[in-house]
Amino acid sequence: MNRGFLIRVSFEMVLAVVGVVMIIMLGGVMVDGGAADAPFDVSYAVSWGNDHVLFLDQGRHVQLSMDKRSGAGFASKLSYGSGFFHLRIKLPNKDSAGVITAFYLRSKSNAHHDELDFEFLGNKEGKPITLQTNLYANGKGDREQRFHLWFDPTAHFHTYKILWNEHQIVFYVDNIPIRVFKNTTKIGVMYPTQAMKIDVSLWDGESWATDGGQTKTNWSCAPFTADFQGFNVNGCAAAAHQSSNACYASKYWWNRSKFWKLGHKRKQIYEQARNKYMYYDYCDDRDRHPIVPPECATNRGG
Ligand SMILES: *[C@@H]1O[C@H](CO)[C@@H](O)[C@H](O)[C@H]1NC(C)=O
Ligand SMILES: *[C@@H]1O[C@H](CO)[C@@H](O)[C@H](O)[C@H]1NC(C)=O
Repeated sequence: MNRGFLIRVSFEMVLAVVGVVMIIMLGGVMVDGGAADAPFDVSYAVSWGNDHVLFLDQGRHVQLSMDKRSGAGFASKLSYGSGFFHLRIKLPNKDSAGVITAFYLRSKSNAHHDELDFEFLGNKEGKPITLQTNLYANGKGDREQRFHLWFDPTAHFHTYKILWNEHQIVFYVDNIPIRVFKNTTKIGVMYPTQAMKIDVSLWDGESWATDGGQTKTNWSCAPFTADFQGFNVNGCAAAAHQSSNACYASKYWWNRSKFWKLGHKRKQIYEQARNKYMYYDYCDDRDRHPIVPPECATNRGG
């Protein structure tokens, strides 16, 4: 047995343990009164493509569809200044090249906006879907990181989460941290401060999503459908344009010190997940970033 194999085996064991812990935690939340599964319209509303939105399970399950005529999207009614946001998502399961499923937070302003992105870029049948994350602060993005996941995201629901507090932003896939962006304003890097809405959409991105736009959407597979659950929001509601100071209060659980940085175990899981599943990192792209962006060193080690 070589070392790589051992590392892989131990990582898979860690995943299994995390899975069991998650099931126990979810059980706990359910006992708390089922808040985990609020109906869609408590916090969200359809924003476009009304006739491409299907409500199931009394609004606890929403399906967006896309055909040649339209995709669809929904957004939170409120803006938030901090939080631990999540959705359970099942991606389009056919030849989905060109099809983009997006779950992101975005502030209102255009020129200097803040944004935190999960974008799933579809692919031809049998080829892996890409999970791309990106982060804008004060209008500056170009911070893509891309992953191939350790499971088939079209087969089942998986949970995608974004933690945002004063200290760090963390992207999670099923409780595995895959990206950390620390507050490094001390070294001059802008950090998201503007209130953001949660935005979700299914749309045609054939001009760039797959093989740099060379593989187009296969319309004979339409309609494409993406499924969503988990519509309760753990966020601090804030007026759009307002900065988030009031949302950093310690009464919000995601602002407590255990969420200020990854713990030792989580850090290891983070590093293993990135070593194994991340295949593109803007931090390593010297063509686009001849000088290593200043935040990269800090964020690498969790
Ligand atoms: C970032 O952290 C600094 C402390 O280092 C804090 O003063 C500031 O409010 C934080 N910035 C944001 C945007 O949360
Ligand atoms: C489009 O999908 C159909 C049905 O799955 C398949 O037969 C065809 O080969 C696909 N076309 C391309 C260009 O991949």
